[in-house]
Amino acid sequence: LLLGGGTGFVGRALSRLLQNKGHEVSHISRQPGAGRITWSRSEGSGVAVLITLLSLSGISLACFLSRWNEDFKKEVACSRIGTTTALAQAILGAEKPPRVWVLITGVGYYQPSRTAEYTEDSPGGDFDYLSRLVKQWEAAAKLPEERGAHTRQVVIRSGVVLGKDGGAIQQMIWPFWLGAGGPIGSGQQFFPWIHVDDLAGMIVHVLETEGVNGVLNGVAPSADTNAAFTQAFATALWRPAFLPLPGFVVNAVFGPERGTMLLEGQRVIPKRTLESGFVYSYPDLSSALKNIVG
Ligand SMILES: NC(=O)c1ccc[n+]([C@@H]2O[C@H](COP(=O)([O-])OP(=O)(O)OC[C@H]3O[C@@H](n4cnc5c(N)ncnc54)[C@H](OP(=O)(O)O)[C@@H]3O)[C@@H](O)[C@H]2O)c1
Repeated sequence: LLLGGGTGFVGRALSRLLQNKGHEVSHISRQPGAGRITWSRSEGSGVAVLITLLSLSGISLACFLSRWNEDFKKEVACSRIGTTTALAQAILGAEKPPRVWVLITGVGYYQPSRTAEYTEDSPGGDFDYLSRLVKQWEAAAKLPEERGAHTRQVVIRSGVVLGKDGGAIQQMIWPFWLGAGGPIGSGQQFFPWIHVDDLAGMIVHVLETEGVNGVLNGVAPSADTNAAFTQAFATALWRPAFLPLPGFVVNAVFGPERGTMLLEGQRVIPKRTLESGFVYSYPDLSSALKNIVG
């Protein structure tokens, strides 16, 4: 299996799971090294035989220190749409195309709302920077019908990925540990999330289940708000979480586009995911956070 972005937070969990199951995993990375090929090599020499191709690349949107200026947005697009385009081209140029091609994108595709419920069939991709990014990203992965007939194509739209060694928890653990955590804004916005082991498990489920294709929502089935997450995280850490982060402070510090990511959310239902037979190990916040904090 060939993984773009396999060195990242989700990629490491996925690689471990695949290797435990006896699969041979290689990473496409910006850095050369053992078990890796670089992006220039994957484009230049052409990969003749691909068995399974997965794309998890992208500069992190979670880092609180990065400013969302034009340069950063260019890198966001290049690291997601650029890498995905390169992999789609590799598939089209391969003598033997892969059996499966999986792309991980995000639930930012759906418009934030406190009332709407979104399944994989819901519309989206056309209202703000993030949603348009996801739409272009998924479009870059799509193989033309006649050329893609031999390759099962799957897109997993992931929620915020929770795990011990990376992602959002790593950003939040210290304020919460120090008792300075609290809801963001009103806390009433939905917080679509998934445990990293479930996201990795879902990807393996997709690889192993022949009939699965198209879009799957990569979120836990419990629809929780930011306030519910805050309470569950603080409880798991045995800490109070009384200090709310007001919306105007979020917007002033992070700017309105990043602020939206924190202050607004979507109620996302993993309808096709459940229908495909995927069984979650961490379907609710308390089991997920107990595992992560423990
Ligand atoms: N974590 C989440 O909460 C979350 C939520 C929704 C969607 N996703 C999506 O899921 C995927 C995996 O997330 P993750 O948390 O595992 O990401 P991550 O740890 O931040 O990194 C993913 C990988 O992307 C590669 N990368 C970073 N910057 C790059 C750049 N400028 N150009 C090309 N490649 C670059 C890196 O690989 P090399 O250093 O080896 O090149 C890195 O290991 C991403 O596409 C992300 O957008 C994540």
